[in-house]
Amino acid sequence: MDQEQLTKAVDKRRTFAIISHPDAGKTTITEQLLLFGGVVRTAGTVKAKKSGNFAKSDWMEIEKKRGISVTSSVMQFDYAGKRVNILDTPGHEDFSEDTYRTLMAVDSAVMVIDSAKGIEPQTKKLFQVCRMRGIPIFTFINKLDRDGREPLDLTAELEEVLGIESYPMNWPIGMGKGLEGLYDIYNNRIELYRSEGEGQEFLELDENGEIKGDSPLKEESIYRQVLDEIDLIKGAGSEFDKEKIANGELTPVFFGSALTNFGVKTFLDAYLQFAPKPAEHKVEDDKQLAPDDEAFSGFIFKIQANMNPNHRDRIAFVRICSGEFDRGMDVFLERTGKKLRLSNSTQFMADTRETLETAVAGDIIGLYDTGNFQIGDSIYTGKKPIKFEKLPQFTPELFMRVQAKNVMKQKSFHKGINQLVQEGAVQLYQSYSTGEYILGAVGQLQFEVFKFRMMNEYNSEVEMTPMGRKIARWINPEQLDEKMSSSRNLLVKDRADQPLFLFENEFAERWFKDKYPDVELTAKL
Ligand code: G4P
Repeated sequence: MDQEQLTKAVDKRRTFAIISHPDAGKTTITEQLLLFGGVVRTAGTVKAKKSGNFAKSDWMEIEKKRGISVTSSVMQFDYAGKRVNILDTPGHEDFSEDTYRTLMAVDSAVMVIDSAKGIEPQTKKLFQVCRMRGIPIFTFINKLDRDGREPLDLTAELEEVLGIESYPMNWPIGMGKGLEGLYDIYNNRIELYRSEGEGQEFLELDENGEIKGDSPLKEESIYRQVLDEIDLIKGAGSEFDKEKIANGELTPVFFGSALTNFGVKTFLDAYLQFAPKPAEHKVEDDKQLAPDDEAFSGFIFKIQANMNPNHRDRIAFVRICSGEFDRGMDVFLERTGKKLRLSNSTQFMADTRETLETAVAGDIIGLYDTGNFQIGDSIYTGKKPIKFEKLPQFTPELFMRVQAKNVMKQKSFHKGINQLVQEGAVQLYQSYSTGEYILGAVGQLQFEVFKFRMMNEYNSEVEMTPMGRKIARWINPEQLDEKMSSSRNLLVKDRADQPLFLFENEFAERWFKDKYPDVELTAKL
């Protein structure tokens, strides 16, 4: 590719993640998007990964599940002249640090909200990561075909709970059985409710925002009510502001029903107009690296072990930040300075893993890895080393005591634990008083996978004792006094020897703050 072709190819990319609380409709909307993209899937293939009774103790099930979730981790399709990459952010028992880190690899996010439930805890957590990055966030309020909460109430909640301004791109005319359509503010038209398969049907609006010509809808009180609500929003709500959208300070809000495929196309069309192309990336010497720079570069944001004992490989997920990837190319691994040949790569399309030949900035590639990579690693070509900013660490919430079941096998235990912790699979802490090891994670599945991989890859059987949920707060080492440790908190150190307290609950944290008002406690995120 010459420079012009590269710039053109990069500008076409739109890379985003869908964030939501389980059951809000992420899978359903993803399937609809793939259908628009012409990715032929039998209905329900994205969904298939959720079915099958997944028992945490059943390793075969994990294996099956993980195997499938690798292929659906990144989905790519072409639509309206754009190449769209959707990154999956798993929910349910799959929730882990990977889920958060995936958000480091996207340029924007779509937040799906159930209209009956509003903002739920997992949406809020994922939103906060997007907010920290300052990426654009688009909101889709789903399940309009069911009775839900008042639209005004839902948009107010965005501001109150998430602290983000909102701008309705469209507004529902009725809900549930009374759903008539969408008043499309952005496109100045009404989209009539038609269920799946009936196509889109519009009514034109005049310059005052009223339906042109005759329509039975004009006589309905729900229509008049919508006009009043829109007046209200226009008077008191936020203005449409492209810059605020780009900085993630204002979220455009779309309503619809993923299940009946209503409002999804309208959403996708508008979204692709405003969703950003691949962004510049900050590199360590405080310079910005342009995505169409001729040097290839990228960072590893996720490593997924293949749970199949017959294939001990892992897949390292790379976000390409600049340049072009060609299979078989040589790159440098910044951390070690070592040269590596990238000959075994994969991309993720439809239901199969295909060998990938080329990709450009904005795309995600999967590299088969035999232990070279760690999460956060930078890879690059060219003479000048490229190092991306460190990936943030996320505060673990769940903790486990861990030890080798067989005391005679300390060596493999330590080797395994060190490698898995370095890879970023779990966090490791050590108690000040007893020296025992404690693992921390944001989701339960991280522990399950850890235990399984210790056995499978390092032949080390581990014993884990749940400690439950804790609040982890770091403390300045100079302020530390071991007497601060009490029965309601546990003093531990992290891998970098930094001290932190694991508090039993918020009460214990507050009690500590009251007792030691000068001691500063910090969370990671
Ligand atoms: P998730 O990936 O965010 O967890 O949600 P998913 O798409 O799996 O949707 C969760 C449930 O909500 C599914 O029902 C799905 O059919 C339903 N759903 C999604 N979008 C809409 C919508 O626009 N309207 C309505 N009424 N329902 C919607 P389920 O009963 O759990 O699954 P299934 O048995 O129908 O497959």
